[in-house]
Amino acid sequence: MYHQPVLLTEVIDGLAIRPEGIYADATLGGGGHARAILEKLGPRGRLVGFDQDEDAWEQQPGDKRFTLVPENFRHLERFLKLHSALPLDGLLADLGVSSHQFDTAQRGFSTRYDAPLDMRMDRRSEFTAANLLRTWSEPELLQLFEQYGEVSNARTLARLLVQARRTHELDTIGALKAVLKPVIRGNPQRYLAQVFQALRIGVNDELEALRQLLVQAAKVIRPGGRLAVITFHSLEDRLVKQFIKTGSFGSSATADDRPVEKPFRPVTKKPVTAGPAELKTNNRARSAKLRIAERTGTQDSK
Ligand SMILES: C[S@@+](CC[C@H](N)C(=O)[O-])C[C@H]1O[C@@H](n2cnc3c(N)ncnc32)[C@H](O)[C@@H]1O
Repeated sequence: MYHQPVLLTEVIDGLAIRPEGIYADATLGGGGHARAILEKLGPRGRLVGFDQDEDAWEQQPGDKRFTLVPENFRHLERFLKLHSALPLDGLLADLGVSSHQFDTAQRGFSTRYDAPLDMRMDRRSEFTAANLLRTWSEPELLQLFEQYGEVSNARTLARLLVQARRTHELDTIGALKAVLKPVIRGNPQRYLAQVFQALRIGVNDELEALRQLLVQAAKVIRPGGRLAVITFHSLEDRLVKQFIKTGSFGSSATADDRPVEKPFRPVTKKPVTAGPAELKTNNRARSAKLRIAERTGTQDSK
């Protein structure tokens, strides 16, 4: 199976779908959530699905109410405008990688295989994990592993990688794992997973893409419309929580991403997590957190 959607019922309930509404799925993946949204839409409803991975484009629902946007969701507003799909009644983002991406050896996302260190979701980009390891400075690598991987010895790791790349080609998973051996702390599987997660977030610039998505969500969702975001990493959940609560990211907001004043009202105070039945059948659901919010105020007329 390409991907088993997480928190499916909770997402559909949270979006409170209006049959005539216009919806966007920022992360189409295998189209599980998208198909469930289409089931709730009437003949005049619409769904626009974004994905930056060409493998996901083949998963698009064959439905004339559906429009595929084969792009990064950073360009949400621009493409919704292009497809006359504004304002939205609801937006879903189910972040991170799909099982298909993770389980395809040559994509380089999983520590289970030996393959090129790729990790690009969008293969039109030239920036791979191998490029990152070749070009980022030691302080950049330190920040990456500390913040995105929560690696306990990030400083040692960053120093080791900068030394190792002088003499080794760090362009395959096997080569990276061999170099990492002496600095692994605790459970090796867990340590490697943290390192790989950090590299993936860095390669795909995932946190900046999320910030841009949230800022645009406030512009494209009509008052009363819904935002549903599923995260798998505490940093992502913190960004979503903070943006819903305050309409900004504090000091991390970029200059041209001027946030709108408190654009959302949280529908659920605490994030929704998977129940025991889902946890039994879907391992990926373990770290999933869903936040639902409703757009407040008056729509920017753009
Ligand atoms: C967890 S999967 C989504 C699964 C989907 N909800 C389903 O039911 O099958 C995440 C998908 O979002 C895509 N993705 C992640 N970040 C993206 C971004 N910034 N822009 C566009 N697509 C992105 C990935 O390529 C992947 O296919």
